[in-house]
Amino acid sequence: MKIAIINGPNLNLLGKRETDIYGNKSFEDYLNDLKQKYPGVEFSYYQSNIEGELVSELQRVGYSYDGIILNPAGYTHTSVAIGDAVAAIKTPVVEVHISNVHAREDFRKLSHVSGKSVGSIFGLGLKGYELALQFLLNK
Ligand code: DQA
Repeated sequence: MKIAIINGPNLNLLGKRETDIYGNKSFEDYLNDLKQKYPGVEFSYYQSNIEGELVSELQRVGYSYDGIILNPAGYTHTSVAIGDAVAAIKTPVVEVHISNVHAREDFRKLSHVSGKSVGSIFGLGLKGYELALQFLLNK
């Protein structure tokens, strides 16, 4: 199974960024744990702070991978282009948010990606990525 994880802006700062909301662990450390736990999965990991680069990466993996776990971060709430890319590609996308976006500011309640994804996970911390992975592996 080939699974792509794509993270949007500021998620390169996990572990240092608003730790009360996003926790103390870096994504690299979390991903290493995930790779050890699921040795049969071929992971690709991509993070960018730039909207168009996220669109290009979705297009790159979106026809050949078995699943995509996508956290578009702040672009979730603003990016028609990322929503369009998720709709365009063939690979199923699971949207993940570390925090509970529905318990925060109103602008975080809008997602351009949820309606185009097979499902969404929010508020379960980094564990959400593993739950998305398990869903895609069992699909
Ligand atoms: C986030 C939630 C977004 O609203 C925010 O802009 C982020 C991270 C999350 O994982 O909880 O950067 O996607």
